[in-house]
Amino acid sequence: MKKIIAIDGHAATGKSSQAKKIANFFGYNYIDTGAMYRAVTYYCIISDLLSEPINVRTIIERLNKINIEFKISNKSQIILLNGNDVEPFIRKMDVAENVSKIAGIPEVRSFLVKIQRQIAIKNNVVMDGRDIGTVVFPNAKNKFFLTASLEIRAKRRFEELKSSNETIIYSKVLENVKIRDYEDSSRLVSPLKPAKDAIIVETSNLTENEVFERLISLING
Ligand code: CDP
Repeated sequence: MKKIIAIDGHAATGKSSQAKKIANFFGYNYIDTGAMYRAVTYYCIISDLLSEPINVRTIIERLNKINIEFKISNKSQIILLNGNDVEPFIRKMDVAENVSKIAGIPEVRSFLVKIQRQIAIKNNVVMDGRDIGTVVFPNAKNKFFLTASLEIRAKRRFEELKSSNETIIYSKVLENVKIRDYEDSSRLVSPLKPAKDAIIVETSNLTENEVFERLISLING
């Protein structure tokens, strides 16, 4: 097992941006586990598996038809779902509105956790998500848990989505971030919570650079 830096936290706390920067800084691989849950959700949407009531059994049966990989393109990482670049689709609101339900299915989690652990056999990684420090790599030496007020997180995500041209309404983003926090924290399997040995970083009043400096200064070994 190689070196692992685990970055967990609430929705839209800037985990991915920080994890990416830290990975660049140390020359580690960056793994966005949220993108993996989003890709499975996107697969369910395009395969029409999410019409109510959600057919969990069919979703579980289809997992063996899903292949998820990461590829580096133009120095940034993209996620491939069955060989196709799905990066532009997985950040949209239809995925955000369904992902926590899919992430609550234990079989989906074990399917993705297995891939996450395999990646870390050969590579030093910075991995961001919800359960990296608690479940995926409980022995990781460096664990962080990022948080910020709900309004600040919703505003950051709103600006991000707006800049990628999505027609978006702030109140919808706020509602989605709030619901995902609730669903992610209250699910039975691998609920979102800080690992006992995680360092909690409250980012509401910090710039992206200040958070980065703080994290870098706290990483050891
Ligand atoms: O970037 P943001 O905080 O909005 O979310 P994300 O990291 O892309 O994760 C999207 C969703 O995937 C979360 O709301 C969780 O439901 C799920 N997820 C999870 O359950 N476990 C992980 N390790 C990563 C994400």
